[in-house]
Amino acid sequence: MTTKINAGVIGWPIKQSRSPLIHGHWLQSHKIDGSYEKIAVDPSDLQSFIKNLKLNNLSGLNVTVPHKEMVFKFADEVTDDAKAIGAANTLWFEGDKLIAGNTDAYGFITHLKQSAPNWEINKPALILGAGGAARAILYALINEGVPEIKLTNRTIERATNLAKEFGPKIKVIEWGEKEDHLENCGLLVNSTSLGMTGSAPLKINIKTLPDTAICYDIVYAPLETQLLKDANTLGLGTVDGLGMLLHQAVPGFEKWFGVRPTVTDELRQIILNDLR
Ligand code: ATR
Repeated sequence: MTTKINAGVIGWPIKQSRSPLIHGHWLQSHKIDGSYEKIAVDPSDLQSFIKNLKLNNLSGLNVTVPHKEMVFKFADEVTDDAKAIGAANTLWFEGDKLIAGNTDAYGFITHLKQSAPNWEINKPALILGAGGAARAILYALINEGVPEIKLTNRTIERATNLAKEFGPKIKVIEWGEKEDHLENCGLLVNSTSLGMTGSAPLKINIKTLPDTAICYDIVYAPLETQLLKDANTLGLGTVDGLGMLLHQAVPGFEKWFGVRPTVTDELRQIILNDLR
């Protein structure tokens, strides 16, 4: 008899998570006897919840707001990427040890390389935003060997703090001057919430980007943001935010269920239908 494998995503609230759709699709397509559920965990119950994972028959978890930093305290080990990013989004067991990792940088870079194989890695990148998503992106780009990363944010102190943490490759520029720094860039990334349905628009004129530049928007609702529309009009390569969400889910699924899943068009369509 095989034992059913269970995993899930914890947050507070948790209603908004699309992770069950992703993992549910993979469980079904690989015919795995497993489950993946949304679990609402009140911050005051987090410690006991994490300590009792095995007792509750859970092989691991995805972690979302507001628990992404707090889980560090309750894991036995934290991976280097999670430490550098300052947050964990995936928990799994190695033997009896509970490991806290972060797969956002992996999701970001895997989707970029797949969607834009011609990306010129040796040119500077310009990142808009200095929140949690920006941290994963900076980590990924530095790891990849991008020579210079220009970072800008409405609240400049957050960008300066990230530059101190991530080192000399990061050059902070004023939010109001971002258009003056597009000329030699190989990659422009929007890591802010601007342009998302219900948020303010992202206002940036990208006509001075080189024709070989790639525009990556981590916003996925709408899928084609104004930034990506503008990039398409100029004939630039574009990368949407949905792939990052899907690819970041791959390593967790593999660790819990023992099969490495793939991000297919069918899966993209399932999530897109849910966004409508
Ligand atoms: P996440 O973890 O998803 O990155 P976050 O930490 O709340 O979320 O960061 C949101 C990002 O969007 C920040 O860079 C934020 O800029 P501030 O640091 O100045 O708040 C940016 N952002 C949100 N609304 C914005 C707006 N109206 N104009 C400019 N930037 C905005």
